[in-house]
Amino acid sequence: MTIDATARAHPNMALVKYWGKRDEQIMLPSTGSLSMTLDEFPTTTTVQLREDHGPDVLELNGAVAQGEPLRRVTRFLDLVRERAGSEARAVVRSRNEVPTGAGLASSASGFAALATAASAVYELPQDTRSLSRLARRGSGSACRSIIDRMAVWHAGEDDATSFAEQIEAPELAMVVVVVDAGGKKVSSREAMRLTAATSPFAAAWRASTARTLEEMLAACREGDVERIGELAETNALRMHAVIQSTVPSVRYLRGASVGVFDAIEQLRADGLQAWGTADAGPNVVAITRPADAAAVADALAGHGEVRVVRPGPGARLVDERVAPV
Ligand code: PMV
Repeated sequence: MTIDATARAHPNMALVKYWGKRDEQIMLPSTGSLSMTLDEFPTTTTVQLREDHGPDVLELNGAVAQGEPLRRVTRFLDLVRERAGSEARAVVRSRNEVPTGAGLASSASGFAALATAASAVYELPQDTRSLSRLARRGSGSACRSIIDRMAVWHAGEDDATSFAEQIEAPELAMVVVVVDAGGKKVSSREAMRLTAATSPFAAAWRASTARTLEEMLAACREGDVERIGELAETNALRMHAVIQSTVPSVRYLRGASVGVFDAIEQLRADGLQAWGTADAGPNVVAITRPADAAAVADALAGHGEVRVVRPGPGARLVDERVAPV
């Protein structure tokens, strides 16, 4: 009998953003979304069943974690146990290889790795769709980190139909520009709630994103990098617009972030093709062609620490184990 399993997963960067839930209980998004799984900054997670009937334990980056991170993991494992018909508690050891202060969220890679390792030890279905559906319950965007390279998350009608799957797309590269390594003050969950409750533009955001997703899928099929970039930049700025329109206003982009968007616009004027995007934080990511990535990174280096990333693997089981603290 397997008593421990280890999985590795990477963050993903959305080209069409997920922003808003139709059902918070089972994490159905209000619209579909599309992302690239990155080849850097992995999370590696070992899940080991406890034989002594003690409570769930979370060890995060070499320290025992308490509070909200532990509660989130326990809630997730409760769902796994319910499905598996098991009462076994677990020790979860997780390590994020995000360089200190990279400012990249680790909840997508974290829950993708946890879903994959937990499904192995609790003997739940391990096909890609089941893993994607399960990871979604931990953190919505985690369902996309299960998938290799490029993923579309179908919004779906219910738990069974809301999952991510791989799509064909042209080769892309991204340049992550870290302008501020600090954590965000308002969680994406809170800000999504606030958007639905207070923004007069929430319905327009949902309608335009659904249309953009269709256009993005077509651009991916056609291999049209320029169209992909334009759609992604517009969608990201629309997301930040709807977020800023809440009461009270939530502003994730700082002055420095806007400076990177300006610099990207200038690059285009100078003939280098790049487009900007940003998640629920101040850091900006330039989308570009692999051949232009080094030049884009050089041009943006004055704005913060830069890192070139490419399409990476979906979540998978690995042989090694994360060491106990
Ligand atoms: O999965 P969450 O709850 O961390 O939300 C992610 C939201 C964005 O990163 C801003 C957009 C996205 O699609 O990844």
